[in-house]
Amino acid sequence: MCGIVGYIGPREAYPIVIKGLERLEYRGYDSAGVVLYNDGETQLCKTKGKVADLKEKANSEGITKGKIGLGHTRWATHGVPNDVNAHPHYSNSGNLVIIHNGIIENYGSIKKALEKRGYTFQSDTDTEVLVNLIEDIKQNENVKLGKAVQIALNQVIGAYAIAVFDKTKPDEIVTAKLGSPLAIGVGEDEFFIASDASPFIEFTNNAIYLEDEQMAIVRLGRDVKIRQIKDDKPVAPYVHELQLSLEQIEKNGFDHFMLKEIHEQPEAIKDTYRGRLRINDGIIKMAGIEDNLERILNANRIIIVACGTSWHAGLVAEYIFEDLVRIPVEVEYASEFRYRNPIITSKDVVIAISQSGETADTLAAIKLAKQNGAFVFGVCNVVGSTIARESHAGAYTHAGPEIGVASTKAFTTQITVLTLIALKLAQSKGAISKTEFHNYLAEMEAIPTKVEESLKIDGHIQEIASVFKDVPNFLYLGRGYNFPVALEGALKLKEISYIHAEGYPAAEMKHGPIALIDEQMPVVVIATKKGHYEKVVSNIQEIKSRKGKIIGIVTEGDTEVKSMADYVIEVPETIEGLTPLLTTIPLQLLSYHIAVMRGCNVDQPRNLAKSVTVE
Ligand code: F6R
Repeated sequence: MCGIVGYIGPREAYPIVIKGLERLEYRGYDSAGVVLYNDGETQLCKTKGKVADLKEKANSEGITKGKIGLGHTRWATHGVPNDVNAHPHYSNSGNLVIIHNGIIENYGSIKKALEKRGYTFQSDTDTEVLVNLIEDIKQNENVKLGKAVQIALNQVIGAYAIAVFDKTKPDEIVTAKLGSPLAIGVGEDEFFIASDASPFIEFTNNAIYLEDEQMAIVRLGRDVKIRQIKDDKPVAPYVHELQLSLEQIEKNGFDHFMLKEIHEQPEAIKDTYRGRLRINDGIIKMAGIEDNLERILNANRIIIVACGTSWHAGLVAEYIFEDLVRIPVEVEYASEFRYRNPIITSKDVVIAISQSGETADTLAAIKLAKQNGAFVFGVCNVVGSTIARESHAGAYTHAGPEIGVASTKAFTTQITVLTLIALKLAQSKGAISKTEFHNYLAEMEAIPTKVEESLKIDGHIQEIASVFKDVPNFLYLGRGYNFPVALEGALKLKEISYIHAEGYPAAEMKHGPIALIDEQMPVVVIATKKGHYEKVVSNIQEIKSRKGKIIGIVTEGDTEVKSMADYVIEVPETIEGLTPLLTTIPLQLLSYHIAVMRGCNVDQPRNLAKSVTVE
């Protein structure tokens, strides 16, 4: 996690670095810092808190001038969030300065060795150890900064995206990557360095994405030199043309990114199926599936690996794949899968789901799967992300940038793309009738309009939110396709409002959670017409007789649940397999409004970060 930004060129670096940090704040926001080089000197400003706090401090201290700048927004790993542990970090001589996203696992032993050689440390961070290791190598081996960085990185174990410069040679920044993302923006006589392209999108469309174990030296008014860290081999830079627009990464009149992203779902879902869903031809076009059809259809099983919300999308996919394609599916938390010596064979297909495409556990899980001969298919949102690149094939969700830390449109677009994959496979296998296939396609095409309708009841959801905003606990129940939606609803509420919430399969309630139900306990029950409706109605009766407060998510026109529930939220009717795309919407809005009413920072909930690049 953490976001890094760097600039070297003819412009003032400070506004670029600060704006860049604001855009990267989704990656971590417990402390921030900036260093600027001006007239032979560097000036450093860092603080616990957000980029806004840094800006205030830097402005009041007059640290705003310089044509080279590095900035960092932190999600603490080693050392508590405070001013001292915030990045950038100087080396002992004060000549080198570094920003780092990642973890140096063997920093303890390196630190001890450096201490024996007389080095001292101000902070508790692994990063300060790394910059001193680079300095030690540079001095003792009498090598240039780039070489010293390379030697140092060959000694460390862990993950990093770093940028370092030397104030005695202020015409270059050295940067390197392993396991954490790093993009270099290439402008005219200027370079930008950042964790993603958003900090430099208004300056250049040209970006180089470093691969793992590569380093680059960007040289003022000159060029970029890329090398392999391990064997020093030069690499020809490949410059991508970015498709990102400034509008996509701004709030466009919404109070929060999360609300904007909730409202973007009709378009995002359309973007996901655009060009793929060809209703007139009666087909789904997906190159990643078509090119690997035999391999996927002959799989013994599909293993889905993911974390958090993406894992919930994987659970929805389990229902749809088993229903339509009739291939056994296992859904695994990537973090558990990778550490439990799983049985993986070359007959397995592993689907990795990740919005960011950078989640460390998911990435490690697919590496393990590949080592064991499995075929890996990535479902990512961020184009060119590490998981997308590491997969044998894949399909992007095309949801556009998701900046709110709580995932919203990523979830519904993941379900959309996974449904398209299941339909494509089912059709190729002959496992679905022409009529059912056509109905799915027609209904999928209607989903964006139905999501729009679901968004219109926002006012009603706000009223419900105002009733329950102060409760300490919530329970979410659903069955079948809507069991994962219950989990997702609970996750959304707890992560942004800090209300404790649990999601359960509705029928499991009587095996324990029912003990929690009393007149204080709000229970959100997803009870749409299709999908075990009668059974869910029985569960609602069980809650009612224990005086629980029922918020029913029901199909338009429902009367039965309405007669029992304290509140109902209606969603349009659809095919059972597509209901998660609609039932999710009111749960996102409910969490959002409760969090706003409680005064929480919905876009940057405490302790979280958007892209979890640590294990
Ligand atoms: C929850 C949320 C997280 C992510 C999880 C995986 O709202 O955003 O649970 O879903 O960290 O992230 P990705 O999908 O980027 O791998």
